[in-house]
Amino acid sequence: MAGTTTDLERQLSELLEQERFEPPEEFRANALIKDLSVHEEAAKDPVAWWRRQADALHWFTEPQQTLNDENPPFFKWFEDGTINASYNCLDRHVEAGLGDRVAFHWRGEEGEERDITYAWLLEQTQRAANALKDHGVGTGDVVGIFLPMIPEVVVAMLACARIGAPHNVVFGGFSAESVKERMEFSDAKALITVDGARRKGKVAGVKAAVDAVGMPVQTTFVVRHTGLDDTPMGEGDVWWDEALAAADAECPAEPLPAEHPLYILYSSGSTAKPKGIQHATGGYLTQVAWTHKYVFDLKPESDVYWCSADVGWVTGHSYIVYGPLLNGATSVMYEGAPDYPHKGIWWELCERYGATIFYTAPTAIRACMKWGVEHVEKFDRSKLRLLGTVGEPINPKAWLWYWKVVGGGNCPVVDTWWQTETGAIMITTLPGAQAMKPGKAGTPLPGIDAAVLDEQTGEELPRDTQGLLALRRPWPGMLRTLAGDDDRYVQTYWSKWDERTYLVGDAAKQDEDGYISVIGRVDDVLNVSGHRMSTAEIESAIVSHPKVAEAAVIGAIDEDTGHSVAAFVTLEGSLEGTDDLVLEIREHVAMRIGKLARPKRIIWADDLPKTRSGKIMRRLLKDIAEGRELGDVTTLRDPDVMAQLQGKVKERAEDEA
Ligand code: PRX
Repeated sequence: MAGTTTDLERQLSELLEQERFEPPEEFRANALIKDLSVHEEAAKDPVAWWRRQADALHWFTEPQQTLNDENPPFFKWFEDGTINASYNCLDRHVEAGLGDRVAFHWRGEEGEERDITYAWLLEQTQRAANALKDHGVGTGDVVGIFLPMIPEVVVAMLACARIGAPHNVVFGGFSAESVKERMEFSDAKALITVDGARRKGKVAGVKAAVDAVGMPVQTTFVVRHTGLDDTPMGEGDVWWDEALAAADAECPAEPLPAEHPLYILYSSGSTAKPKGIQHATGGYLTQVAWTHKYVFDLKPESDVYWCSADVGWVTGHSYIVYGPLLNGATSVMYEGAPDYPHKGIWWELCERYGATIFYTAPTAIRACMKWGVEHVEKFDRSKLRLLGTVGEPINPKAWLWYWKVVGGGNCPVVDTWWQTETGAIMITTLPGAQAMKPGKAGTPLPGIDAAVLDEQTGEELPRDTQGLLALRRPWPGMLRTLAGDDDRYVQTYWSKWDERTYLVGDAAKQDEDGYISVIGRVDDVLNVSGHRMSTAEIESAIVSHPKVAEAAVIGAIDEDTGHSVAAFVTLEGSLEGTDDLVLEIREHVAMRIGKLARPKRIIWADDLPKTRSGKIMRRLLKDIAEGRELGDVTTLRDPDVMAQLQGKVKERAEDEA
């Protein structure tokens, strides 16, 4: 028990002085990895080391080759091996007699419970794979998935993997227009969606919304979830349950080349067009399986693992679906929001299912801190033995709160740094072998070469110096390209220094022990509540509103959400900015991208600060939005613009997300 709030405050401030936290003795004694010998072993020959880790998977044809780096930056891993993701996630466990093991304790928003076993997943996945084939989907065809957190989303992903149809999952919080765009960009053949989705007690029609914008696919499968009576079904629309019932129950997993694309996941970049990050199969599975097992110290026979992310993000792909299933884990999957039906629901479910490992985002931890310890302490979390975070830098205070309040000081906290592009965790601490330092993610994992480089020279910087984070050696889980755009892939990631050094896009520094603190993005990518968004994408959505002439979006530092979206907007002609127009523009952004991208603040501007060459000076806009003294304004075309803007800055409260 952490005691009263004041006690807790005092304890946390004392702990803030402590730089290192050793793994608890009991944890270390039982950990899968207890010392750093694995780092040493991998360092001798990282490629050979990764090849040995690939043995944890079932290969239809064992790979003889490991890394092919002849044509950088188009690296290939295990390319002569053949493998199937769904076989590795399901068949192999069922064949080993583990069919009755629960893969997911699923919990619906209104308290419904379903225990999803490996055998059930295998049966459903085979039928779903056949249903896809029955409707003309074959190897290499892209299938869109736009589903809430329900077991069918796992079936849908694995059915695609079974027949080699790369899936393209779109996070349920995105708008139908975003889904359409992603289906167009990836040339998707089919879409798997749902009648309706639930959010905090309300039901919203998803199929109807999808229909309203029209999807460029041949077949739309619709999962019956909320049972909405008025779900429109037209030509090319198929009920998921009916398609599965009609399909053959047997569908052997297709042996696919290791480099076969497993999925595309769209993520925001620095232009208005999202990037289709494309992952391959064999290398991705190898790294995801290894990191899931050893970073979370997973013992599948006794652990109950819970990653609270949404499957629509990469964290969900790697650490709700592929990692846990590859390792035969039992997980918790929760449909609802962390504060529905009450603010302690996560901890209630930890108690209910006996969760031992819990993985979430710093933004969620900060929300829990705000809600208060009482919501956590009401429930028994004594089974928890490991905690993790991902998605954004965690401030030491939130880290300590997580460690002390949620973990009772008994659970190591792994701060895992990675990206959609890296596919799997890259930098963290191995929980039984390394001390933790709040606010610092840790060291590169075995087989990974991460370094902080000088922006100009590409030289490694001395310790404690801020620079650009880079990855200097290919890793198996890496993206292979951007879907349909090899040039953008090379330009975005591999052209800053040389074609073997990957530009991460984060600023970082490394301390004397080699621990890396990741400071944040250096490009125009925002991190709002751990969700990645691009300023250009939001600007383009705002400008598409007929009354808007120009917009500049910045991510203002926000205590709760990391960044918050602030938009400086100039209107057409002599239009005046009004409160109604603020709502209209926010709604417009919600429709174009999704609610998560709505600006928290809109600041009306007669003009935007631009250099003489016409470039918007975002740095100055950030100063204004964050209420700082203005930086240098001498390079502005019209320095008066700034004075005018400062006068107009006005707070806008965000609607309930
Ligand atoms: O800026 C880093 C931040 O999130 C970015 C990647 O975002 P995304 O592709 O959406 O993937 C998020 C989940 C893997 C990174 O470039 N980031 C992620 N994890 C951390 C982090 N920043 C600091 N510490 C982390 N642990």
